Amino acid sequence: MDAPNRPIIPPAPPVHARDLPVWKLVRGMTSNIAGVWAERHFDELTTRGRVLGQDSILLGDPADARAVLADRSGTYARPAAFIRPIRPLGGAGVLLAEGEEWKRQRRMLAPLFSPTRVGDLIPHFAAAADNLVSRLAGQGRANLSAEFHRTALDAVMRALFSMQVDDDRSGMAAMVRDYIAGPGRPTVFDGMARHEHDFTPWVGGRRRRFQKAWFAQVDALVAERRAAGQPGHGDLLDLLLAARDPETGEGLDNAEIRDQCATMLVAGFETTSRLLFWTVYLLGLDPIEQARIRAEVIAHPPERVNSLEDLAAWPRLRQTLFEALRLYPPVAVLIREIKRPVTIAGHEMKPGVLAWISPWVMHRHRKFWDNPTAFMPDRFAGKPQAYLTEEAFLPFAAGPRICIGASFSIAEASVLLARLLTKFELSLESEVPVIPVSTVTTAPDHEPWFVLTPVSTA
Ligand code: HEM
Repeated sequence: MDAPNRPIIPPAPPVHARDLPVWKLVRGMTSNIAGVWAERHFDELTTRGRVLGQDSILLGDPADARAVLADRSGTYARPAAFIRPIRPLGGAGVLLAEGEEWKRQRRMLAPLFSPTRVGDLIPHFAAAADNLVSRLAGQGRANLSAEFHRTALDAVMRALFSMQVDDDRSGMAAMVRDYIAGPGRPTVFDGMARHEHDFTPWVGGRRRRFQKAWFAQVDALVAERRAAGQPGHGDLLDLLLAARDPETGEGLDNAEIRDQCATMLVAGFETTSRLLFWTVYLLGLDPIEQARIRAEVIAHPPERVNSLEDLAAWPRLRQTLFEALRLYPPVAVLIREIKRPVTIAGHEMKPGVLAWISPWVMHRHRKFWDNPTAFMPDRFAGKPQAYLTEEAFLPFAAGPRICIGASFSIAEASVLLARLLTKFELSLESEVPVIPVSTVTTAPDHEPWFVLTPVSTA
């Protein structure tokens, strides 16, 4: 491959000159939400729409989006269209809980994700990374998208249960991926549903069967870990079993523990594996940036990283992860249903209207980013907490329901990539652009092969 012109403009679906006609919009919303946007969405602050009788408002202004996400008055809730495909993955866990029930669950889970606790998980992430590196050794080429899916599951399994992904369990990653690409993909009927249990033709039975099989797998894991004996593995399950509501002193029952574990497994590995993939894809397109990061991690080797503070030794790696999250947000859209009359951005909104917040659009909005389609990790230089401090940067959402696993995933991705990049130079085997496809998460349209060249330690 010739040396690329920099900054790199990585591939993305085309931006349409005008709004798509309704039938194309409906098709795009269920097949690739990253591909439905028109030029005006990247220039204007607020756009209104009506599809299949459903009114919506796209909030392009970060201040409006953050106000919706910060609301605690019950004016907004997750819509049925979001809940229906996700319920079989996470049951009654924190991701789908609402109101007082959500507050109780979040209160109990928050201590599991404190900086000290996440720091304690670094050895688990390092073990998952070493597993990956030894699997890749001597291979010469790899499908890193598939490898990361397995590795991110391995990391979260180790962090949750102190277990590793053996051949039996790697089937769990495939099971979730098949669900997301199959019956879990939102349909037109999800979009039209006003309630969670409204009719779901074709996929309803497959979703129920998946939930049964998936929950049986998670139940078996919890039972196996419990049977393995005493606490003291330093994993999240120990903490979940010991968790008490600070207000009532009550613990979690078995079904709650299962649902929280299922939620963490899915939320934890599906999103982080996408982040890992898009980061190495960008580094495959930009070998100069890749070499800089390698120099950084070799100068401060992964073996010396034992806490969250130690990750500060790798600022280039961190800003590249943020740039990958900006260009390819694993969660491309957040939707809230308006439950009470409210005025947003000067528009009076009735109950039932959907407020759309799209990290995809906001991260490429021309008002908020310089050269928005370019890969320029330096834009995050000196911003180690960009997902908390940058107005128009919402990869983990914002407000009280901000992703509970944000620092977990950044720590995991940093440790994994640092270990990988100290061992291998990564280059793309083909120049065929990889186009992002966003349904539940932002996936590649095909899984490219990477050439792995061992890094000389001489
Ligand atoms: C790159 C990785 C990740 C990304 C981009 C991501 C993104 C998000 C986003 C956007 C939300 C908000 C969804 C909404 O409000 O509709 C969310 C919520 C959540 N995430 Fe993550 N996430 C990631 C990793 C993780 C990890 C590693 C875990 C756990 C181990 C996790 C657990 C959760 C949970 C439990 C919620 C629900 C929080 C609540 O509603 O209180 N996520 N995530």
